[in-house]
Amino acid sequence: MTLSLIERPRRNRKSAAVRAWHRETFLSADHLVWPVFIHDKDVDEPIGSMPGCSRWSPAGLDREVAEAIAEGIGAIVLFPAEPESSKSSLGEESWNPQGLVQRTLRRLKAAWPDLVLITDVALDPYSSDGHDGIVQDGRILNDATVEVLCRQAVSQAEAGADVIAPSDMMDGRIGAIREALDAAGFPDVSLLSYTAKYASAFYGPFRDALDSAPKFGDKKTYQMDPANVREALREVALDEAEGADLVMVKPAGPYLDVIRQVREATALPVAAYQVSGEYAMLKAASQNGWLDERRVVLESLLAIRRAGADVIFTYYARQAAGWLKEA
Ligand code: PBG
Repeated sequence: MTLSLIERPRRNRKSAAVRAWHRETFLSADHLVWPVFIHDKDVDEPIGSMPGCSRWSPAGLDREVAEAIAEGIGAIVLFPAEPESSKSSLGEESWNPQGLVQRTLRRLKAAWPDLVLITDVALDPYSSDGHDGIVQDGRILNDATVEVLCRQAVSQAEAGADVIAPSDMMDGRIGAIREALDAAGFPDVSLLSYTAKYASAFYGPFRDALDSAPKFGDKKTYQMDPANVREALREVALDEAEGADLVMVKPAGPYLDVIRQVREATALPVAAYQVSGEYAMLKAASQNGWLDERRVVLESLLAIRRAGADVIFTYYARQAAGWLKEA
């Protein structure tokens, strides 16, 4: 029997060529940023809760970066695993010109001038309290933290950072860092703000990787409540007014609605971070044979793009770039 239908949407799905005519969303290696963990040891250390990711030694990082560039990666973001001896309550190591991040930036910039080097601004890898800001009597100080973040940002710019990404969620830090960078002679260094960063349990594996979990309490007085989206739009307006060049939503997969609303609220490029817990879930299910890794990873990244993200930070960046090349 033949139904009498006016509309048959399946006609537009009948072959690969027809489906390609009206595909709305594209994903390429150009959209991806590869986050890397580094440490000051001679050996690479695999990260237990993030199979496939390691804390790289300097030589290991150079080797991996060369391969990543050959695979089509154009941007990386550095996260340092600091020894206990480098941690303090003010996080002074964060602005040490001879610090791990600063030395790594100089080395990478000299070797690969075209690779976009992104740095994280926040105190947690350097804080003996495991918080993104300075702690006093159990509270996270806003303005005193911003002062230190400005020093950290300037020292990263001096060492060769192209894009500085504050992930700390202190109020007013984008404007203050912009001013500090300009005053120090770095008007061309960009600011990618972690604008809507949620107090998420999906950061667990990252904190294992850096041994940076809070020593007390949680991050809920600075990171956002997962229940909220209007608050994200308020943060977008502030970051825009303070001079952010890009805004970010983090995590990505569980927050696609936030990405969409942020996309519609600003003309700035929008980034999204597929965080460590998202990676760990996809990796664990794939390793168990429960999900087809390649298909599920590319689908998760495409969905983040469809929600409205321009740029995606993902630990799968290199594998995805490889799969996209084969496709
Ligand atoms: C630190 C920072 C975190 C992440 C990026 N920068 C962790 C946190 O805020 O506790 C998380 C990234 C991830 O989980 O992949 N300011």
